[in-house]
Amino acid sequence: MKYVRMALEVESPEELGYGTIRNNLSESSVSDRRVADLGVDLARLMLLYGPHRGAPALCELIASQSGWPDLAPACVLTTTGAAGALFIVATSLLRRDSHLVVVRPNYATNIETPRAIGCEISYLDLEFDSGFRLDVAAVEAALRPNTAYISLTCPHNPTGQMLPWTDLERIGRLAERHGCRVLVDETYRDLAYADPYRCAAGLSDRFISVSSVSKAYGIPGVRTGWLVTRDPKLQNLFLAAKEQIGICGSVVDEALALAALRQRGTWLTVSQRRNREHLEVMRDWIRGEPRVEWVAPQGGVVCFPRLKGGPGFSTARFYATLLERHGTYVGPGHWFERPDTYMRIGFAWPTRDELVSGLAGISAALDEQQA
Ligand SMILES: Cc1ncc(COP(=O)(O)O)c(C=O)c1O
Repeated sequence: MKYVRMALEVESPEELGYGTIRNNLSESSVSDRRVADLGVDLARLMLLYGPHRGAPALCELIASQSGWPDLAPACVLTTTGAAGALFIVATSLLRRDSHLVVVRPNYATNIETPRAIGCEISYLDLEFDSGFRLDVAAVEAALRPNTAYISLTCPHNPTGQMLPWTDLERIGRLAERHGCRVLVDETYRDLAYADPYRCAAGLSDRFISVSSVSKAYGIPGVRTGWLVTRDPKLQNLFLAAKEQIGICGSVVDEALALAALRQRGTWLTVSQRRNREHLEVMRDWIRGEPRVEWVAPQGGVVCFPRLKGGPGFSTARFYATLLERHGTYVGPGHWFERPDTYMRIGFAWPTRDELVSGLAGISAALDEQQA
């Protein structure tokens, strides 16, 4: 393994220091919650090693919330966040002589861990001009005899696009024919805007789903995620990896995650209402800001607009002004291996006022470029 720190972690607001940021539009979750919001009393929790697959009640709940009544709790393995699940999948399935097909841009771990392993990678580049849509024909064309898995993210980070369910099924059939797997990073699944999106792993044993309590529940400090597969042999391989990394999950984190998922219905209703309101703020701003264009998101809490730029436009100067003069922080394109004319805006984490003021800050920083 050859580890390299990822730009989005090096430059993350928690590493930069929250003190320098007034309007934080760089977060990719709903706003954070406190332990008190969970209504749990952990005083009697025994701090022993937990069951290696995850707390049974938690695995049961995750399975029952998958959208598949026949999905067994044994299909679920808890992990250290979705990041830990992605790491387990990559290190279990990829070797230097394997091949991976992965969507780009993407949450960086989906690309960086395979790179650290040193396998061959084919990228499926999502383009602004085609609405960041994934072309299933391109997925098929990228497959090779040594392809270990196809790596998708839905709802997508950073663009907020959804993969139509029928496309997912088509990709599943491709994987079946080629004998490879499909990894679906569905960390934002509970935040789809239209019909509820089911857990992809329910479709067939070709699929592996990954998620966590970080994004839709606003508790990323609880480092509990999970992976789901209907293939018991594969699950056993993932369990072996988990045991070598950390034996079991944190019993404290799993108790908190369980409490959050038990309130799923109420919490999601509240956060989805807020997301809709904040998305309207985004839409209004885009309508009135001719120097920025976007593909409106269909799920999640982020979007990936593009600055039109023009002669003499300096992205470095723009981002410096935005933070130093307007206290506003966004995720620049290079976090996602895209030009810095793109930026990820997280619209659900900030308060409405911070969002309005941050977007006004972007317009003001654009004015100052032209001055
Ligand atoms: C698409 C996606 N997957 C996985 C993660 C990792 O999330 P966590 O490890 O907090 O569950 C993130 C975090 O930003 C993400 O955006």
